[in-house]
Amino acid sequence: MKFSKYDADALRRNFRQRFQAEPLLVCSPGRINIIGEHTDYNEGFVLPAAIDKAVYVAISKRNDDNIALASLAFNKTYTCKIAEVRPLKSWTDYVLGVVDQLSKHSIVIGGFNLLLDGDIIIGAGLSSSAAVECSVLYALNELFALGLSRIQIVKMAQAAEHEFAGVKCGIMDQFASVFGKADHAIQLDCRSLEYQYVPLHMEGIRIVLFNSNVSHSLASSEYNTRRQQCEQGVAWVQQQMPEVKSLRDVSLELLQQHVLPKDALIYKRCKYVLEENLRLLAACDDLKKGDIAALGQKMFRTHEGLSKEYEVSCSELDWLVQYVRNEKNVLGSRMMGGGFGGCSINLVKENAVDALVEKVSAQYREATGLTLSAYAVQIADGTEKLL
Ligand code: GLA
Repeated sequence: MKFSKYDADALRRNFRQRFQAEPLLVCSPGRINIIGEHTDYNEGFVLPAAIDKAVYVAISKRNDDNIALASLAFNKTYTCKIAEVRPLKSWTDYVLGVVDQLSKHSIVIGGFNLLLDGDIIIGAGLSSSAAVECSVLYALNELFALGLSRIQIVKMAQAAEHEFAGVKCGIMDQFASVFGKADHAIQLDCRSLEYQYVPLHMEGIRIVLFNSNVSHSLASSEYNTRRQQCEQGVAWVQQQMPEVKSLRDVSLELLQQHVLPKDALIYKRCKYVLEENLRLLAACDDLKKGDIAALGQKMFRTHEGLSKEYEVSCSELDWLVQYVRNEKNVLGSRMMGGGFGGCSINLVKENAVDALVEKVSAQYREATGLTLSAYAVQIADGTEKLL
């Protein structure tokens, strides 16, 4: 597979033409997650990494209090006053949501021109929305010298997603986008926000994404429901044990005692989360020891849990994971991200990637009638200013 590099100079030229000004350029990447799915909002662990597909933002100050936006991907423009930003259920929400966060924190900015583009696939579960939020906030931070730290940017970008896009997401996507490091995954404790970079020593193995091309329309409503179900489980344990704050404090025994008698479905959801946290910690050991085969087996088990217990997969993603299960050149595979569509993540022996992609693409089309897209990703640095 070949790699293409995004042409940031073309974005710069386009900006100059459009706004007759010299822009500042920022790029914020999408992410993969090796293991640890639907654990972040339960104060658990995740193991994401930033990838070489990103959102690019060009920005300059204006002399008034207008915000002038343009998106190349959507071929749209939008203008409003800073004081008048509101959610519109459109691409603008991810930009205006962070402006709204700034005013909620009483941080004053002036008007600006902003041009948005990138090479990250939208709606494929690679966190394009988090990448937009983080790139815009980072750019505004630079442009107006706001002095925000990286972790403040992460938290405000997450709040923008909650309040403007209406998805009660965890912190993983924004964290990975801002804190990514080339050739490393980030082992993040979503309770304390302590993290360590884990080197991705995967000699002869590539991380390949299979995009089901099923767009995850159910994702936001079902996502919020899963979150509520976990909170309900916690609330039932809490009635007996007030010190319990999240699923992180709950053991399997406590679930059996306090949740199972009340609701079998909620028990199943919570049990998946507990097991996924344990799996992640064991998977990090595998990675540190270089035992990619063991890590891969855990990814298959995660998929089982996401599909049958957490029930956030879909038939196309199940097909993709099932299909590669018996391929000797695939060490691990699972659906990735929020679910209901998007990509599967696969650990594939390097010399087998091209042949595998060809075979899976043909079979996928036959089985589902859909076209598969495949990307071999590289692990990249987090949000940065471009020179
Ligand atoms: C989405 C959310 C993340 C995380 C994943 C599931 O990507 O934005 O916070 O919850 O789903 O692991």
